[in-house]
Amino acid sequence: MSRFYITTPIYYVNDAPHIGHAYTTVTADAVARWHRLLGDDTLLLTGTDEHGLKVQRAAEENGVTPIEQADVTSKRFRDVWDEIDVAYDQFIRTTESRHHHAVQELLTRAKDNGYIEKGSYAGYYCVSCEAYYTESDLVDGNCPVHERPVEWFEEENYFFKLSALEDELTDWLNSNTVFPDGKRNEALGIVKLGLEDVSITRTSIDWGVQVPWDDDHVFYVWYDALINYATAAGFGSDEAEFDKWWPEAHHIIGKDILRFHCVYWPAMLIAAGLQPPKEIHVHGFLLLGGKKLSKTGLTQIAPADLVADFGVDGFRYHFLRDVSFGPDSEFSYEGMVARYNSDLANTLGNLLSRVTTVVAKKCDGIGPAPQLDSPLAAVAAESYRTAADAWARVQPSVALEAIWNLLRETNAYLEQHEPWKLPEGSDEVKTVLGNALEVLRLAAILSSPALTRAGEAIWAAIGLEGSPLDQRLPDAAAWGGYPGGLSVTKGQPLFPRLKVDNGS
Ligand code: ME8
Ligand code: MG
Repeated sequence: MSRFYITTPIYYVNDAPHIGHAYTTVTADAVARWHRLLGDDTLLLTGTDEHGLKVQRAAEENGVTPIEQADVTSKRFRDVWDEIDVAYDQFIRTTESRHHHAVQELLTRAKDNGYIEKGSYAGYYCVSCEAYYTESDLVDGNCPVHERPVEWFEEENYFFKLSALEDELTDWLNSNTVFPDGKRNEALGIVKLGLEDVSITRTSIDWGVQVPWDDDHVFYVWYDALINYATAAGFGSDEAEFDKWWPEAHHIIGKDILRFHCVYWPAMLIAAGLQPPKEIHVHGFLLLGGKKLSKTGLTQIAPADLVADFGVDGFRYHFLRDVSFGPDSEFSYEGMVARYNSDLANTLGNLLSRVTTVVAKKCDGIGPAPQLDSPLAAVAAESYRTAADAWARVQPSVALEAIWNLLRETNAYLEQHEPWKLPEGSDEVKTVLGNALEVLRLAAILSSPALTRAGEAIWAAIGLEGSPLDQRLPDAAAWGGYPGGLSVTKGQPLFPRLKVDNGS
């Protein structure tokens, strides 16, 4: 059996989740769901990043302790993931003791291997980024990401000897590990510019993981956070489990944290004598009026507001279908309405309601079997091939477009053959409807990584038992699986059409 381990970033608990976090998390969830359909032993990890100055200050502003801040906000993330059907296998919190133990173990190994040494550091620090910048990184004296003032920090710290790992990192980056290509080149560019050793501990705060060999220090939040991916796989607690999952690790991240994931993280693993991740997939930003949505800024949009308007399936489908994984993408409420109406209300919803209506009228409500040499069989096979390849490359928009192409072709096939005009109970009407029912069976399965709810409804409407999620690919994608002779029921419209408004 194949294994598949996929992770989202762990999100800071300084503030509530917004649609940028939801975009990453739904993408990882959809890819995990595709792997479950393939029968892979799948582990989807998400969680929260709870240490560091940013969280400590948010707690101070809210008049609570850091752990109270973390408890409340971490739960808000879990609540949102529940609302949008994110089926994570593990939710990690960096304040868990298993994580502290894993961080101490991994970094002690790096130190024992000669990659951690004491030194002093001074530089400009952005608390929102939890990162140091050099003078040349700053834009008008501000953090280049948050456009806010940085602070001057001086500390005696432990340093990670990143500069000693340039060759190993270059080899790793050249071995088909970071996608898309543009993002891999960006990471290679960072290494080519020359890497400086990085400070990985702090004495100025105590909200963090204790450095095991020096009581005065805690690890800097990023060097604790990245290790979450290893902790959840069993590092430091169950080595057999870790050996099983770690070779299959796939990270999904936004481009804001490329340097940490594609340079520092593989270097830390190499320094500790471990294997770097198998693949890292980097996406762009969702923008609103050209600016990145963020918790720190004021442009946040709550996922729940969009779910109220579009439903869970409408929400998930929009982000998976309209955002091409990789480039930045401008968020548009009107675009979301347009996509919902064209793909969900018209193409899929309409196909189901037409077919179920005509089966009731012309076949006494009993769904006929498909024709083995239907012209739609080749279209379905091609859709499946394209979708499978696209999911494997973490390109959900391409996968969904391929599946919707089959649905559009099926609507065109119905318009061409007009089963509603054919004689009741005739072989011809049965052939046309049987083929369309087979496409609905395929659609229920193949859309399920994106549409977590419609698939079950379609499955039941065309008389099938169980759940599309119990089907296994590629066998279930073979043409001809709809058995015929089942009761077909016309239910409520799956996706009632929406009127465009400005969302305010
Ligand atoms: O960086 N568009 O956490 P974070 C798309 N704790 N994706 C976005 C986005 C946007 N406008 N805004 C946020 C951290 N994201 C660290 C990570 S991992 C070991 C530690 C998504 O709460 C995107 O995935 O700032 C981005 O990388 C992540 O949220 C940052 O979340
Ligand atoms: Mg951030």
